[in-house]
Amino acid sequence: MEIRKVGVVGCGLMGSGIAQASAMAGFPTVVREVSQELLDKGLGSIEKSLTKFVEKGTLSAEQKSRAVALLKPTLRLQDFADCDLVIEVVVENIDRKRELFGELDELSKPDAIFASNTSSLSITEMMTATRRAPRFLGMHFFNPVPLMKLVELVRTVVSDPAVVQAGLDFARKLGKTPILTTDRAGFIVNRLLVPYLLDAVRALEEGFGTIEDIDQGMKLGCNHPMGPFTLLDFVGIDTTYYIAEILFNEYREKRFAPPPLLKRMVLAGMYGRKTGKGFYDYADPKSPTPNRLLTS
Ligand code: 3HC
Repeated sequence: MEIRKVGVVGCGLMGSGIAQASAMAGFPTVVREVSQELLDKGLGSIEKSLTKFVEKGTLSAEQKSRAVALLKPTLRLQDFADCDLVIEVVVENIDRKRELFGELDELSKPDAIFASNTSSLSITEMMTATRRAPRFLGMHFFNPVPLMKLVELVRTVVSDPAVVQAGLDFARKLGKTPILTTDRAGFIVNRLLVPYLLDAVRALEEGFGTIEDIDQGMKLGCNHPMGPFTLLDFVGIDTTYYIAEILFNEYREKRFAPPPLLKRMVLAGMYGRKTGKGFYDYADPKSPTPNRLLTS
């Protein structure tokens, strides 16, 4: 069960990172977006990231050119027809994902492996939109994909062990370290990370400290690379809120319930870094300032 050619459906923040990692590992990689504008934006991020690696000396100019040459950008789903592994990285909407997997199932090779990069939706529910249940996995990458070492490999109750092994081997070929988990909302990392982030918001609401002091506490006290509010802004307030809702719906436990402040921020369009405002204000991206209005 050799993976020779890879398809990545979606070239946003995560999709572009996965396509980049795949091409850097030497796989011919088809990457698809729904419009030329979005495709160009994703390819622009790949170019920027590869250039950073060259500047840092972790990649040679030749390796960069080779990776770029291995990428096949497209707007057509049909271009996935001869891929051995297709990784879905589209919007976190179960109906959209099921529809997409149904279409991919029709046009892909019968033995192709399908994987979803979802952070919290059910792999089993997506799988049932296809006729290849044993060949369906979750493959959850972390942001920023080119730097983060982890891949959560999610098996379902019907995954073929050889397919799981192929998924683990593929992640290792990308230079990542895979961990194996089962299909439960949040898998391992978000199951632990999201309640922690939500608790940081509650600690802020309850007056335990300021945004910057809570961030410093976890950075310097626990050696986390980012404090919880910096991380919330980095992951996206909207994304975290959405994942929390899914976790709460699955487990019905208070610790997964998004705090009111998070919901208000989503309603107000304060999604974090991507909108320039979240727990911090990014008017000057190099020197973000804490958003005092949130606690006054
Ligand atoms: N490609 C290539 N290089 C990159 C890059 C990219 N996409 N992003 C950053 N870099 C480079 C920077 O240019 C910088 O290079 P330099 O050392 O030459 O200046 C270097 O990486 C380090 O970056 P920074 O100086 O900006 O900052 P840090 O040292 O803090 O590292 C970080 C950045 C790796 C993002 C680090 O802060 C970190 O690990 N943060 C935590 C990230 C995290 O927890 N991610 C998981 C989120 S949860 C998730 O994804 C799951 C989902 O389901 C929600």
